[in-house]
Amino acid sequence: MNPFRSVGARLGLGLAIVVAAALVLVDLIVVPSLERNLINAKLDQLREAAPTVGSQLLNSPPFTLDDVIQSAADSTNARVVYFQLLDVSPVRLSVFADSSPVTSADVENDRLAVRAYTGRRPVSGTVTTADGERFAEVAQPVFTGPVVLLRASLEDSLQSVHLVRRRLVIAGLIALAASLLVGYLAASVFARRIRRLERAADRIAGGDFSEPVADQGKDELGELAVAFERMRQRLAQLEHARREFIANASHELRTPLFSLGGFLELMDEEELDPKTQAEFMATMREQIDRLTKLATDLLDLSRLDAGQLRVEREPVDLAELADTLVEEFRAVARSSGHDLAVEGTRNATALGDDERALQIGRILVGNALVHTPPGTRVRVRTARRNGSVLLTVEDGGPGIPAEHAEHVFDRFYRVEGSVASGSGLGLAIARELAELMGGSVELHVIPGRTIFALVLPSTAVENGHGFPHGKAVTSAVTPTI
Ligand SMILES: Nc1ncnc2c1ncn2[C@@H]1O[C@H](COP(=O)(O)OP(=O)(O)OP(=O)(O)O)[C@@H](O)[C@H]1O
Ligand SMILES: [Mg+2]
Repeated sequence: MNPFRSVGARLGLGLAIVVAAALVLVDLIVVPSLERNLINAKLDQLREAAPTVGSQLLNSPPFTLDDVIQSAADSTNARVVYFQLLDVSPVRLSVFADSSPVTSADVENDRLAVRAYTGRRPVSGTVTTADGERFAEVAQPVFTGPVVLLRASLEDSLQSVHLVRRRLVIAGLIALAASLLVGYLAASVFARRIRRLERAADRIAGGDFSEPVADQGKDELGELAVAFERMRQRLAQLEHARREFIANASHELRTPLFSLGGFLELMDEEELDPKTQAEFMATMREQIDRLTKLATDLLDLSRLDAGQLRVEREPVDLAELADTLVEEFRAVARSSGHDLAVEGTRNATALGDDERALQIGRILVGNALVHTPPGTRVRVRTARRNGSVLLTVEDGGPGIPAEHAEHVFDRFYRVEGSVASGSGLGLAIARELAELMGGSVELHVIPGRTIFALVLPSTAVENGHGFPHGKAVTSAVTPTI
């Protein structure tokens, strides 16, 4: 990066410009006003003294004039010149008495003295002599004599102003250098922290989530780093879930594919009698069914992840849905020796998508038939609970151990030693679909009873009863249906 475009250089330069601007302002405004104040103070002092000096000179006899003018000069700390009129038109004045030992021509016909004489009023101002020296002057007309002039050198005052200006310039230059340095250093520290964040962002963008984003600062950059760290952790979780999903999905796909491959090889290599061939074909069909179900489930999950799955929000009669479910599974239940029936359903209309609600019902009833031994009682019911309608599937099977109950809704999760082998996707899909419809799937584990409930919002808010509240995954809850 061009070093002059770095934050450090820009901040340093910015500070230097501010300091330089402040210096110019001080030089243009503060110094001249200081100079003006000093000159005005001098003029005020002379203006105050001028009338007294005038009357002293007027009242003194000629032989004491020199002494009086000298003592006036000492007390006012100024040169005192007493003029007499030389000519009236044009007005010309000559020095009559002067406190300065050398009466020079520079005060003859002094501009201010002439103006004071002609205007018959005190005049004050500054004059600059030919050799460049500046004086504060007050010319005071005197009653009979023409004018008395008080002239004080401004050298001391101007010297102080120059001194102040010189010191200001030096201090300004030091401040300028310091601001450049401090600005550059401060910005360099920030730039280093920003670069560290930039590197972390690049690492994350490159898929490396191993290194935490750390910044000790408590300022905005520190907060940005904390946000980056949150993002890293979330992306790492998502990446982990994605890898796990792909590994699980490929594993699930491989098993039936291997099995199919093996059967095909056997059928190709050996002469099989029609009975064995028929058995092989039946098993192969089962594997293909499993693969088809798996492909459908994976597609549903990927649509759920991508947010592409749309659900309707329309009235769904869960009692009717319970009947449909039991009808659909009647043959399966009979062949597996399960006692499947609908029990005590009332008109229970929920808000949701009937196709998706049926899909969830199929997952729950399918599980109750698949994961319980033959002869198990399976009951499908509906119930109401404060503003919700429930479709429950209860079985009297071996149940789900408490330590697994929390996880059965996770993708690819299966309870070890289950009666049947599935992919572990059914309940994950059921819960995500239910949530998409604004509902949930609950599991209530009670000794001797396993109850899964699809909870959907009711079409009308009502204060019903008949089922415990909340997402229970506990054996302490005793449903009252
Ligand atoms: N009614 C039940 N009784 C006992 N265990 C159950 C019951 N329902 C689910 N389970 C357990 O929960 C696990 C997860 O169920 P889920 O429906 O998600 O997956 P699966 O049935 O194994 O496979 P899939 O439904 O994808 O074919 C099951 O493997 C099973 O161990
Ligand atoms: Mg299942």
